[in-house]
Amino acid sequence: MPFELPPLPYDYAALEPHIDEQTLHVHHDKHHQTYVDKANAALAGSEWANATPDEILRNLGKLPDDRRTAARNHVGGHANHTFYWESMGPGKGGEPSGALASAIEEAFGDLAGFEQAFTDASVNHFGSGWSWLVHDGSTLKVISTHDQESPLSSGLTPLLTCDVWEHAYYLKYQNRRPDYVAAWRNVVNWDKVAERLS
Ligand SMILES: [Fe+2]
Repeated sequence: MPFELPPLPYDYAALEPHIDEQTLHVHHDKHHQTYVDKANAALAGSEWANATPDEILRNLGKLPDDRRTAARNHVGGHANHTFYWESMGPGKGGEPSGALASAIEEAFGDLAGFEQAFTDASVNHFGSGWSWLVHDGSTLKVISTHDQESPLSSGLTPLLTCDVWEHAYYLKYQNRRPDYVAAWRNVVNWDKVAERLS
């Protein structure tokens, strides 16, 4: 079955003023749609056409050579954006709790240690890409990936992501990526991150 663009899980204006309505329209309706369309084109007629995005990204090495790069870019783009929409929510932000808070303290010392590591990864990433909180099988880590590379392709379990492509923030924040990353923290859906960890 071809991939379909999932609806944004909240209203386009719901993350104002941190993430603006116009950016969400362009980012979701145009950019994400294009990844979906190109992912479908990349897999059409192949034995992978009915696989889920996660199955494809975990098994990129098994894809035919002539489809692998397009799958990394476009299936990755589709999956990463779906994951990003669900990493945010209206009225979210705040702090993690329970087992997630304990895991963050164990890995980063405290929440401030995590936030510093995540902010550094987001702000300092060169060019287009993503910053991630992942579980590597034994502990939590902050990493960044280039272009549309997914942590799934490295055997990691993603828990939280911030899109640091310019299209994620340029309309509102222009070149001020640090301002976008600081604002984004106000809409982080920690409940979703905790659900992914469990
Ligand atoms: Fe994006």
